[in-house]
Order: sequence, then structure tokens, then C-alpha cells
Amino acid sequence: MWQVRASYDSKPYRKAQMEVYGGVCHPSPSDLTEAGRAMLAKDPNTTGSLGMAISEAVEVAAQDPNAHYALGSVLNHVMLHQSVIGQEAMQQLAEAGDAVPDVIFGCAGGGSNLAGLTFPFLGRLREGTKTRLVACEPAACPSSLTQGEYRYDFGDVAGLTPLLKMHTLGKDFVPPSIHAGGLRYHGTSPMVSHAVNLGLMDAIAIEQDDAFEAGLLFARSGGIIPAPESTHAVDARGRRRDRARAPGGRRRSHRPRALRQRRARPAGVRAVRVRGGAAAGC
Ligand SMILES: Cc1ncc(COP(=O)(O)O)c(C=O)c1O
Repeated sequence: MWQVRASYDSKPYRKAQMEVYGGVCHPSPSDLTEAGRAMLAKDPNTTGSLGMAISEAVEVAAQDPNAHYALGSVLNHVMLHQSVIGQEAMQQLAEAGDAVPDVIFGCAGGGSNLAGLTFPFLGRLREGTKTRLVACEPAACPSSLTQGEYRYDFGDVAGLTPLLKMHTLGKDFVPPSIHAGGLRYHGTSPMVSHAVNLGLMDAIAIEQDDAFEAGLLFARSGGIIPAPESTHAVDARGRRRDRARAPGGRRRSHRPRALRQRRARPAGVRAVRVRGGAAAGC
């Protein structure tokens, strides 16, 4: 396995987990592949990108008659597989008595968990339901849906994948090392890009410090520690509530009250539940 160098360095236990299951994990780019060596020759200190790691893995798989490479994000079969998330969310919302959410936020890297969560709801729009779908990208890593071009591009740096029509920053783009390593991808799924292009889905960019704070609040309030990627959706959900007008027309602060209190008194966070007809998922 080739893990992006930035994630390899910042998440050492992921490597340990892969080894427990019998895998061997290399930081990417590595000097084990032609693609990796070419990238290292260009920049020996690069922190890597998903596009580089994909090139290395595809190169090795293509040379082994017993190996196949299946992309785990971006492509249609991944969206279909991940639609179990949206179907479960539908069932949970129905059980909670709120079958039609007003808005759904999902974090977007390659776009697969976002599509898995939102596309089952998208199908329902034809039945007349009104649910706003929002892709939450990292502003810290200039994001493809909000800042990229909509055009054909490769899914990897070496150009080994088929060309995909998608929002892209360009296959050679090397994103900064952000907490949410899973969102450091140069493109976004063709299906999600198409949905955004048709106006069926919105896209916003979230600052990583805000996302991190929202994740801490979520964890300290509900006991579940969200992945750094998911905290982008958690923060977007909090901001939506903040945008609501307080009685008398006064605009509420954009930070939840408990979070403002936490800043003043770090050890004493009051419980605030994220509730209402929205699902944030990853
Ligand atoms: C934890 C985590 N969340 C989200 C993502 C983003 O991928 P996608 O947008 O395709 O769901 C990744 C990608 O590797 C990830 O590792």
C-alpha cells in the first residue's frame, strides 16, 4: 500500500493497523516505483498527494498478473457502494419522525461518501421533496468544486487512469498538509461534479481551524470523535443554525454559544446537540 506522505507522517497508527492485517505500507512518493522516483526527482521533499499514491499503486498492480486495482473513491462504483450511508440515514431520519431533511452536509474529498450520503435523497427530489445538498470542501487545501475547473483530467499524477470529466485543480496539484488528509484530492467525482454543475448540489469551503473546533465541540458534546474530514460537515451544520435570525431580527453569532463558552473556559463545555432535519456524514 502507498499512503500519502503527509498522512503517513501524521497518522502513524493507520500504518500499524495495515500491518496488523498483513499489509505493507510505504509513504508516497517512494523510490519503489517509476512514478514515485519521477516525483521525488522533481521534489525530494514533497508531502505527496492522493494522485501520486494512486499512480504508484496502479503501476505495481498493472505489472502483477494476479493483482487488480480498484479505485476507492471518485468513481461510480464507489458512489453506488457508499449509497448504503444515505439509505441508512433515510431510515434513521424516518425513525426519528423527520423523513425529509431541509439540508444535508457531507465532506467532499473525491466525493464518494458525499454522493453515498446525498444521492439517495437526490432521487427523492423527483417526488417533490425539497432537500438542499451541500458539499463541504476544505478551504485550507484550495478545493476543486469551489475553485477548480470543470474539464477532463486524469485521476492520478502519472496519467494512468482513464480521463474523467470533473471539477479539478489539475492532476499535478500538490495540496498543503492539512489535518484532513482524505480531502487532499485534486478532483471531485464526475457524478458529484455533474450534480453541482446542474445546480442540484451546492459547494462550500470550510477553514480547517473552524472545522477542527467544531469537531472538538461535537466530540465533547456527544462523545463521538469525528474524523478531521467529517468535521468540515459538522462545522457547516453549525454555521447554518447560526445564520438563523434571533427573535427581533438580531443576527446570531456565527459560533454556537457552547463553543464561545469553551473558548473562555476550555475545561467546561456545555452539552449542545446537533439536531434537526439535517444529516452530516462521512
Ligand atoms: C476519513 C476520510 N474521509 C473522507 C475522505 C474523502 O473521500 P471521499 O470524498 O471520496 O469520500 C477520505 C479519503 O480518503 C478519508 O480518508
